[in-house]
Amino acid sequence: MGDLPGYRGASLKALSQQDVSVGDIILVKAKGGEFKGSLLPRYEYADDKHIVLKLDNGYNVGIEVSNIQSISKISEGKKPTFTPPPLPKIDNSLPKVSILGTGGTIASRIDYRTGAVHPAFSAEELYSVIPELAKCAQIETEAVFNIYSENMTPSNWTKLAEACVKKAANVDGIVIGHGTDTMAYTAAALSFALHGIGIPVVLVGSQRSTDRPSSDAAINMISAVTFAVRSPVSGVYVAMHAGTDDGSVAVHLGTKVRKNHTSRRDAFESVNISPVAYVKDQKIELKAKLPARKGAKFEARTKFEEKVALVKFYPGFDPLLIDALVKNGYKGIVLEGTGLGHVSTKCYDAIQKATSNEILVAMTSQCIWGRVRMTVYSTGRELLNLGVIPLADMLPETALVKMMWVLANFKYGEQKSMLQRNISGEINERSPLVRRPA
Ligand code: DGL
Repeated sequence: MGDLPGYRGASLKALSQQDVSVGDIILVKAKGGEFKGSLLPRYEYADDKHIVLKLDNGYNVGIEVSNIQSISKISEGKKPTFTPPPLPKIDNSLPKVSILGTGGTIASRIDYRTGAVHPAFSAEELYSVIPELAKCAQIETEAVFNIYSENMTPSNWTKLAEACVKKAANVDGIVIGHGTDTMAYTAAALSFALHGIGIPVVLVGSQRSTDRPSSDAAINMISAVTFAVRSPVSGVYVAMHAGTDDGSVAVHLGTKVRKNHTSRRDAFESVNISPVAYVKDQKIELKAKLPARKGAKFEARTKFEEKVALVKFYPGFDPLLIDALVKNGYKGIVLEGTGLGHVSTKCYDAIQKATSNEILVAMTSQCIWGRVRMTVYSTGRELLNLGVIPLADMLPETALVKMMWVLANFKYGEQKSMLQRNISGEINERSPLVRRPA
């Protein structure tokens, strides 16, 4: 039997009857058509009912075993080898960037035989995957973690912030490759932890892996590096594909950005503000007044309190959920209320218990766009009387991260005012007239 990692049950049986291995080019005749491509491995939890091919056009196709009429091998796959090309001549006059890896699709290298994704994280590998980088900056790299971003924790944010602090004095900018799913949370975390940093820190991800013709990995990375080393600003940003125009990358403020689509390359949007800059053809167009670059000295506050919950209210919400947080030692609760910042009157007792136990309870809106206004209706006013802290136009995810940061770094007496004070652009005094994307 050939080498068939990940295949089991019906799919393994179908493949093992032919002498094929992952990586071989095979022809599958099935109800519905013929498919020719390289046999891909399956992942650990995949079903046993499909075999998966990578077609010549770069897309993957899953074929249901029960529809397969025949499988034949066209040619054996070549053994995978990867020899990075020699390092390009490093131009010492170029600015320096530190690229920190945390995992995710960005800047990974695809093994074309099997479709497996390997992290490409030496400078050498990055230059080979994205040769344009050699003309932008002198690169040094460090893989801080290699995890999917759904596995990030507040302690990962702390480690990442500490890695940034170490690099900051010696480079012109920092770029962080990150899985897209929770990149906005990490951006908010670093916006607070690294508040006052003198250089740009730019998080970047990719929605489509580098083996796909529509991959946004290279353009996002080149633009992130360009912004990190050449923009005149400091602070924490997210750089991702801008929209229908293929060549443009939007730069978002780290506290005002959200992943708003599961698969589109322009999934990331600034909420309640516009993107602060665009990068196109390695040219930067600034759209907002941002803090200027400054000296290396700043006071990083990198700790986060993990006992904080983000709770979405919904019709029929059971206040026992709030009671359970109080009983389990939670120190803060961010509510994602309805409309202008409301939850049902049934929650009042539980909220009262929380606030009288010195647990911070704050309100954001599940509308995402707009701001909470808790003085308009009696519900809002009553919640204010119970000690609920209104958080203006702060995104719920940013509010969660900020509460974790405030609780870990400030005394009880300062926490409420720190939550409501604008630190890193997370609160607009007034809601500007921003067009919500169609
Ligand atoms: N689950 C994703 C993550 O956030 C992997 C794909 C990506 O890089 O977006 O890590």
